[in-house]
Amino acid sequence: MTQFKDQTLLVTGAGGKLGRLAIEELLARGATQIIAGTRDSAKLADLAARGVEVRTVDFDKPASLPAAFAGVDRMLIISTDGIGARVAQQTAAVNAAKAAGVKHIVYTSAPAARPNPDAGISVEHFWTELAIANSGLGFTILRNHMYAENNLADAAHVIASGQLFGLIGDRGTSYVSRADAARTAAGALLQGEGQSIEDVTGPAFVTNVERAALYAEVSGKPVQVIAVTPDQLQAGMVAAGIPEGFAGALVAFQKDAVTGYFGVVTDTVERYSGRKPETFAAFLAANRPALGL
Ligand SMILES: NC(=O)c1ccc[n+]([C@@H]2O[C@H](COP(=O)([O-])OP(=O)(O)OC[C@H]3O[C@@H](n4cnc5c(N)ncnc54)[C@H](OP(=O)(O)O)[C@@H]3O)[C@@H](O)[C@H]2O)c1
Repeated sequence: MTQFKDQTLLVTGAGGKLGRLAIEELLARGATQIIAGTRDSAKLADLAARGVEVRTVDFDKPASLPAAFAGVDRMLIISTDGIGARVAQQTAAVNAAKAAGVKHIVYTSAPAARPNPDAGISVEHFWTELAIANSGLGFTILRNHMYAENNLADAAHVIASGQLFGLIGDRGTSYVSRADAARTAAGALLQGEGQSIEDVTGPAFVTNVERAALYAEVSGKPVQVIAVTPDQLQAGMVAAGIPEGFAGALVAFQKDAVTGYFGVVTDTVERYSGRKPETFAAFLAANRPALGL
């Protein structure tokens, strides 16, 4: 379904990885009035050459947003990478969207977004969700589960060492590929109606034990799970050079997997993208070089 394909659709953060993929999907699905918003328009000259209108959109410059959002019917707000500044950034975007007459907002949130002190960087998503809900506009909040790509940061090391460090009691994570998340976001922009919050997941959740087995299968090398406490995991990450704050955010995500917040499977990807989400095994098979194989 693409019932809003002829409305004016704006994607913020179009210069990022998810944003570019979302624009490609809008083009592929026949959207006729696409606006790509980005801080650096020069980066999107290739899209401009293909008929996409490119506008400067920077949430850190709220005074510029009314002009940037003029004439837009529906908007995909891609959560920024400005951790710590995101509530102010994204609330400014929501307020400006409402003032500009936007009718529907799609937002890329996170699973179990909540204000609780244990929620790590998902707290910012909760307050953004609240700003969107309070706007009175239509919305489709997409709680994107962990990208499968997140694993590529350390998968080659895990496979080479044969050791996967994960929290005791892990109950699984529904990894979703960034491409599936992007196609879903584009689909929600094309067809989302009303007000809804939806989890965007892969086709199955994968525990650390299962992830190690999949690494072993794809590499032909044994991979063992070393189950550790949150403090041990945090210390190990810091010792490996990850900044303390970011390590804390990563541990918070793993704690959510222990709680069971990530052990969720929905049909959201299929409903909005029209295709089944990629399995984690297929994702690994398609990314062998990044696994050091
Ligand atoms: N679910 C997950 O596992 C997961 C993992 C990583 C990140 N995320 C979230 O998903 C988002 C998209 O992921 P990605 O892979 O595409 O990340 P990315 O390539 O690092 O993109 C960062 C995004 O932030 C935007 N941005 C930064 N500052 C901005 C500002 N001042 N105003 C407006 N936009 C701003 C960028 O837009 P321009 O460069 O075009 O201005 C870009 O779209 C991330 O920003 C993050 O919030 C989720």
